[in-house]
Amino acid sequence: MGSLTVRQLDDKLKTLLRLRAARHGRSMEDEVRVILKGAAHEAGRDVLEHFEPAMQPAPQGARQADSKGILLIIGGGIAAYKSLDLIRRLQDRGARVRCILTPAAQHFITPLAAGALAGERAYTDLFDAQSEFDVGHIRLAREADLIVVAPATADLMAKMAGGHADDLAAAVLLATDRPILVAPAMNPRMWAAKSTQRNLAQLVADGVRVVGPNRGEMAERGESGVGRMAEPNEIVAAVEVILRKEGPLTGKRILVTSGPTHEPIDPVRFIANRSSGKQGQAIAAAAAAAGADVLLVSGPVDRPDPPGVTVVKVETARQMLEAVEKALPADVAIFAAAVADWRVDQPSGHKIKKQEGRPQQLGLVENPDILATVAHRKSGRPPLVIGFAAETDRVIVNAKAKLAKKGCDWILANDVSPETGIMGGDTNTIHLVTASGVESWPPQSKDDVARSLIGRIAAALAKAKR
Ligand SMILES: Cc1cc2nc3c(=O)[nH]c(=O)nc-3n(C[C@H](O)[C@H](O)[C@H](O)COP(=O)(O)O)c2cc1C
Repeated sequence: MGSLTVRQLDDKLKTLLRLRAARHGRSMEDEVRVILKGAAHEAGRDVLEHFEPAMQPAPQGARQADSKGILLIIGGGIAAYKSLDLIRRLQDRGARVRCILTPAAQHFITPLAAGALAGERAYTDLFDAQSEFDVGHIRLAREADLIVVAPATADLMAKMAGGHADDLAAAVLLATDRPILVAPAMNPRMWAAKSTQRNLAQLVADGVRVVGPNRGEMAERGESGVGRMAEPNEIVAAVEVILRKEGPLTGKRILVTSGPTHEPIDPVRFIANRSSGKQGQAIAAAAAAAGADVLLVSGPVDRPDPPGVTVVKVETARQMLEAVEKALPADVAIFAAAVADWRVDQPSGHKIKKQEGRPQQLGLVENPDILATVAHRKSGRPPLVIGFAAETDRVIVNAKAKLAKKGCDWILANDVSPETGIMGGDTNTIHLVTASGVESWPPQSKDDVARSLIGRIAAALAKAKR
């Protein structure tokens, strides 16, 4: 059958169609679909059974977001204005974008603006008979290749974690079988609230991907902290990683830890170390680029999150262990964090005052050994557990001893003496210690170390499958 486009209609028909489409807030193509569907309905048979859906699978060889359908759910936060920019940036990458606005989002931006940018009416109401007739919430949930929630408010995250379905956004999120990416945005106190963190942990456990939030200034005057929505280009980068084609680690779940831990002494002081988190972040990014579903548990670092990686931020060793245990099971666990060996026995609830002539004594206790705890698990041990050994002398001897003591499969040993510049620097010199021997890699960038390691992991997993 030949195809007919709106452009080929005669002018009078086009004008009537344009007026009718504008009245219903639809594109002209969608209006034609509705008219045809209505006619078919009246004729008593579904002649449109095989009508092309609005969102098609991507053609082969396209860019990552090319021709992918993205359903953008916009929540009711100040950052909603950034989602208008996000629509454009996703389209620039070739994606087709459909929008849902929550009732609260409509206090910040209009469905008209989102619809005009998307080129298709924005959906707002679960009980709108016309929307249900046109598309329906189940089709909205299933036709997209990816659902992006930006901004994801505390309220939307709570609804998702609790399985609510009392408005269009929540119902679609519950009904979908597609990957979901959330970009949280809220006041730092709302973000730090125990309930929000509980909901976040639940969403991560449910396989929801998370980008941001970032640290920075809030819309409220004088407020700053963690809670700013990730920038549109960061969200697009995360989308591209999720929509990326098959890689050697597609279908594998990889857990990475990175950064230092901060162990409180009192409300203003802590024990820390010089780890920058660069190596762990590079590994997480390389694993994501190879197709893995990556969860990074990060201590406090001053760097943006790697793209396409879900990041859980912690402060202390005990919080890191808790986050790691919650994140299991995983196919591979890579422990690159520089976890403090000790914490203060009894951190003070108030700032410790200097007492003239009397040096302050701090009682220290050992922190849990995260690598050994996971490597020695009786059940749920990841099939490949990899640790880092940061040593300042007898690097290989100590790394071999660590491999045996910790019960892990591989150790990446590096010399972190100050003259090497490895701690906090951009390069690394690795000795890979396994049960079958030691392999010394040449000095290279931390990104290259990460890519080499991911290549090794992919080869090991492929070999184990054979
Ligand atoms: C001016 C203003 C700004 C708000 N900004 C945010 C925000 O950035 N993040 C958030 O989680 N909630 C924010 N809220 C509260 C949400 O709008 C409220 O929780 C609403 O119920 C969210 O609905 P939704 O999740 O269905 O979009 C804000 C409220 C107001 C009045």
